[in-house]
Order: sequence, then C-alpha cells, then structure tokens
Amino acid sequence: MRGSSWNRRTVQRLRQALISTVGSMKIKLLLCCCIGFTLIALASRASDFMGWTNHTAALERFSDSRKGYSIVMNTWKRYDLLKQSISHYSRCPRLDSIHIVWSEPSPPSDSLRKFLYHIVQLNTRDGRQVELKFDINTEDSLNNRFKEIKDLRTDAIFSIDDDVIFPCPSVEFAFDVWQSASDTMVGFVPRMHWVDPTKGDKNHYIYGGWWSVWWTGTYSMVLSKAAFFHKKYLSLYTNEMPASIREFITKNRNCEDIAMSFLVANATGAPPIWVKGKIFEIGSTGISSLGGHSEKRTHCIDRFVAEFGRMPLEPTAVKAVDSRNIWFW
Ligand SMILES: *[C@@H]1O[C@H](CO)[C@@H](O)[C@H](O)[C@H]1NC(C)=O
Repeated sequence: MRGSSWNRRTVQRLRQALISTVGSMKIKLLLCCCIGFTLIALASRASDFMGWTNHTAALERFSDSRKGYSIVMNTWKRYDLLKQSISHYSRCPRLDSIHIVWSEPSPPSDSLRKFLYHIVQLNTRDGRQVELKFDINTEDSLNNRFKEIKDLRTDAIFSIDDDVIFPCPSVEFAFDVWQSASDTMVGFVPRMHWVDPTKGDKNHYIYGGWWSVWWTGTYSMVLSKAAFFHKKYLSLYTNEMPASIREFITKNRNCEDIAMSFLVANATGAPPIWVKGKIFEIGSTGISSLGGHSEKRTHCIDRFVAEFGRMPLEPTAVKAVDSRNIWFW
C-alpha cells in the first residue's frame, strides 16, 4: 500500500521533470530557429544592400526580337482586375507590348481604353515604349488566347490571366530562363499527369492538381495562365493542331492550357520548366476550385492522348530558382 503510493509520487515527479525538460528543450530549439532566421534575413538584406543583386544589365546580349517579351492577357468582364494587372505589368523593364485578348460581345468602352492607355503612358515615362493593343474577337472561345498576333516584335510571349500578379523581378527571371531554352514553356503554375492505377492499361491518365505537385515535386505541364513560350506555338496551335481539339475546347470551355502543353511537348520531346516566383491572386477563386474540375481535366487529357496518338507529356522534377535569392547554395 505504502510502497505503491511512494511509487506513484516518484513517477509523478519524474514525469513533471521530464515535461519541464522537454519544455525547455522546445524553447531552446525555438530560440535557435529565431536567431537562425534573423541571421538569414539580415544576410539577404545585406546582399541587396551591397548590390549583389540586379545584374540583369550584364545579360543584355540578345538581338532585338529576343530582347523583350509581349504580354498576352486573357480577360473577361473584370475591368478592375484588368486595370490593376495592366498597371502592374507595364512597369516591368523588358516588357515590349501588351495584347489584351477581348472576347466579350461588345467592344471595350472608350473610358476603359483611355484609362489603360493613360496608365501605360504614366508607367513608361523612363524612355521605354510599351505598346497596348486590344485583340478583338467576334467568337467567344478559349482558343482566342492563342490566336496569331500580327506584327509581334518579340519572339517571347508571356501568357497571363488578368487575376494573377507576379512581381516584375519574378517575371524578368522567368524571361531569363526562357531565353536559355526558348523552345520550351517556362511558367509558374505546374501540373502533373498520372497513370490511372484503376484502369488496366497504361493509356489512361489522371490530372494532378497543385497538391500532387506539392507532394511529389514532379510535374509535366506549366499552365498558360502564367507562362512564357515562343510565338511560333501560336501558329502551330491555330493552324497545325487538329481542329477537333480546338472545337472540343470551345465546346467544353476548358483545357486550352492542357492542349498548349501537349502541343509544345509534342514539338520538343522535352518537359517544361517550372520557375519559382511569388504569386498574388487578386481575383476571387476561379473555376479551378469548383467541384468536378479535375474530372473534366482528366477527361481532357484522355481525349488529347487519343488525338495526338500518344502521350507527349514528359515528367520532370527540375525547378528554376534565382540563385541571388537563396542563401545556402
Ligand atoms: C506531333 O509531332 C509530330 C512530329 O514532330 C508531328 O508530325 C505531328 O503533327 C504532331 N502532332 C500534333 C497533333 O501536333
């Protein structure tokens, strides 16, 4: 009786001691982390301050059509977002022109036009010339965003939706990456295709969203909502790709970005390149958060595999990171 109560008390005391040790260990660990992060933050500030960043000037060695890039922006009845995006991107240094893909039944209003031209003028007073153009379409189709553009002065296209903002340094870094691999798609939003394990053969696939990329670090597409690609793919998409694919996309109002990924992968036999960049989503969440989205996308992949006669997408785990922004290299 006595012995057992003594035992219980000892055990209790031991347990308390243990808890307090573990507690103080946790606090120490936390302190170490705090100090570590402070040092890293200070170091990265110092590298900015010492001018170790911004060496882009040293990289100017390309011919005219390779020097800059054109933004092709898809928009739909969200004028406040459009204004915000144009106002932001017109500040990016190597931007050459902005093409707004307009698919609404009525043309852009005079006040909207005036506002946007004014904004671009204000933001390019440092001697740059950024051209702003509306590409008006009569038909409302997702294929509009990949129509050929006459008199495009640059080889590089930065295809972007009106509701996502990437800081100019991220965009310019992605452009650098694209210049090193100008046949490839270079973008910020990776996606993956998986072989469907529930089907017997290896010709059925599942669309892998952001979580599966995050979990495995593997991807095979970058979405055209934020990606660089060569302008030659516009004419391939519109003139060479089977018309049945474009019709499918118009009808289903989905998957034009997957089709573009297929097209580029089929032409290059290589995977795209995922670039690390800060993303700011300024719109409300789009169709990708609605239910049934990934089933639709899975269906698109199966459909396109049948149309192409094979699966052209190549998985990869390569990610391009600006080495000036990482401390441990
Ligand atoms: C895929 O690439 C092959 C070989 O380059 C080409 O002949 C074919 O037309 C391409 N398919 C599509 C659908 O673009």
